[in-house]
Amino acid sequence: MDSHLRSDTTETSHFLDPAALELRDALTRLPRTLPPRWLYDDRGSELFSQITSVPEYYQTEAERSILADHSAVIAESTEATTVIELGSGTSDKTRTLLDAFVAHGLIQRFVPLDVSEATLLDAAEMLVERHPEIEVEPVVGDFTRHLHLLSAVPTAGERLVLFLGGTIGNFYVEERRAFLGALADVLAPGDWVMVGIDLVKPIDRLIAAYDDEQGVTEAFIRNALTNINRTYDGDLDVGNFGYVPFWDGRQQRLDMRLRACDPMTARLDGLDLDLELAAGEEIRVEISSKFTPERTVEELAEVGFDAESQVFRDDAGDYAVILARRS
Ligand code: SAH
Ligand code: AVI
Repeated sequence: MDSHLRSDTTETSHFLDPAALELRDALTRLPRTLPPRWLYDDRGSELFSQITSVPEYYQTEAERSILADHSAVIAESTEATTVIELGSGTSDKTRTLLDAFVAHGLIQRFVPLDVSEATLLDAAEMLVERHPEIEVEPVVGDFTRHLHLLSAVPTAGERLVLFLGGTIGNFYVEERRAFLGALADVLAPGDWVMVGIDLVKPIDRLIAAYDDEQGVTEAFIRNALTNINRTYDGDLDVGNFGYVPFWDGRQQRLDMRLRACDPMTARLDGLDLDLELAAGEEIRVEISSKFTPERTVEELAEVGFDAESQVFRDDAGDYAVILARRS
């Protein structure tokens, strides 16, 4: 296992690094938001893993069944020699896909990229054991800033980039377009992308999936503030917030907010930021957009992934995986 590809996120002086500047801006500008990466410290990654097995959260199993049913076809259609996974997390579902690629005999390298270092390295270790015949090269990085690192990945043939788990839904519309455009720019004609999307469905199922009975999703959302407190020496009073998940029908997305119960002030030393929130003021911690396959195929085509599109759905029609090729 080779982890020489690393991003340059280390803070070296009193100047704020790009991630800190982005966070300060996101917390200060109205409406206050959070970049999704703050949800995924070690605890956040652990909570996300727990979410994937709460009964109301259908997405993970739906995507797993699609990959189980179509991995062989995907390996045969793409013939990729390098598979890259963005926001790879535990790469748990990806194992089935890699098994099919290894059986097909052309894959040489697997490159998972994630901000959550411990989870990434554990996953890489597991994959090295399972597939000693391929190079596993984990990259600790931010897929909104470090896609250029992918240009340094040697490849003898075509590449396939995986973006699974519905993570594309956590971008705002303009961020999604920028991300897909940047991805198309670092890839070459003939390379492939595969994106998992959660589909629009009745509201009660969507709300239940993001407001589960056990409260795991709420804990996951709250943990983002705990992570920020720890990282930036802050004193945000997490207990003063109520969890407010709702469906925004106009934007077709879940909107997960934390609302201040009482007026509050907080100091985040590492961001050189004093925050003042009135009672009822909100931080929009995460959005999770829901899609139609047709529109996603179009969005991919708009940035250059406009060849050989295929849509794979689960039996219940809850979820889809789109494969498309850069022309
Ligand atoms: N793909 C996995 C994990 C999805 S959870 C699955 O399908 O189960 C989202 C993953 O994206 C987490 O592992 C998180 O750490 C990672 N992530 C979130 N924002 C990121 C960013 N900006 N750059 C890199 N990884 C990010
Ligand atoms: C990773 N991402 C697609 C998950 C989602 O469903 O939007 C994160 C999540 N947030 C709350 N529950 C799960």
